Amino acid sequence: MPHVAFMRWATTYGSVVGVQLGAERVVVLNDSDAVRDALVKQADVFDGRPQLYVFEKLNAGRGLFSREGKQWQEQRKFNIRCLRNLGMGKHNIEERTRIEARALVDIIRNQDGAAFDPHCHLTVAIANVICTMVFGERFEHGDAEFKYMFQLFEDSLRLAEFAGAVNFLPFLRHFPNLTKVDKLLENRRKEVEFINKRIDEHRATLDVDSPRDFIDAFLIEIERAKQQGTIDTTFTVEELRIAIMILFMASTETTQTTLRWGILHLMAKPDVQVRTVITPN
Ligand code: HEM
Repeated sequence: MPHVAFMRWATTYGSVVGVQLGAERVVVLNDSDAVRDALVKQADVFDGRPQLYVFEKLNAGRGLFSREGKQWQEQRKFNIRCLRNLGMGKHNIEERTRIEARALVDIIRNQDGAAFDPHCHLTVAIANVICTMVFGERFEHGDAEFKYMFQLFEDSLRLAEFAGAVNFLPFLRHFPNLTKVDKLLENRRKEVEFINKRIDEHRATLDVDSPRDFIDAFLIEIERAKQQGTIDTTFTVEELRIAIMILFMASTETTQTTLRWGILHLMAKPDVQVRTVITPN
């Protein structure tokens, strides 16, 4: 658990600690003041991204997690504008979330008090909110295609954690099988197949005057950049693939983990559970 060591070092060395992690020099910010100081007050100085080996292999510098400067701004602006247009932060996303929450509560009720693992059901509920905006489709709980996609992305996250050591210890790059980088790249090929299918379907039915979802909006930007002859654009199909993966991974894993912690706390504190009244509405 590196964060435990980082927090211990902070008590000795202060809230900003420099660490040599293998081949990389890393600066750890250990309290909210230090984080705010660097990432808010001096955002223009600290808006760079590390060029990490595994990320580069997977994304080749594309996507919000890797882009910097003007290219990051272009994608960031588009992502925010597009998600807002599709209802993020507005009433209709609340309604969509409510529909998914209702489906989830039904599933929990149907367990009749028996023990069950909520992991997959939580992911479907959360992913459906984002899938409706990105792909324009939601999946039923238990849907085989969704299960396949969910498993691929989950495995990739676990594999990326394992393969992360390669970022800091370059000699490990000679052992792609041992470090699971091979498996991670194989997974990525399957993810790309899944996403390409969606992009192709969208291309075939695209109406530029009436974008249905994130993919349509992005395809329209690609066309616009082509027509205007913009050379230095991030609006390409390769970028779209990574943008879809980032939206899916960044939203599901984080929200699902937060909800699972919430459930765990409620299980550990029955008095709080009693005070939490959930009504069908
Ligand atoms: C409890 C839920 C969430 C947590 C704890 C969380 C946490 C984070 C953190 C820490 C980052 C910064 C990562 C970095 O800069 O390296 C981030 C970025 C990001 N998150 Fe979330 N997130 C959550 C939910 C979501 C949701 C629901 C979405 C999608 C709608 C989302 C989309 C993104 C995107 C696209 C970025 C990249 C932003 C950029 O670099 O411009 N996140 N998130």
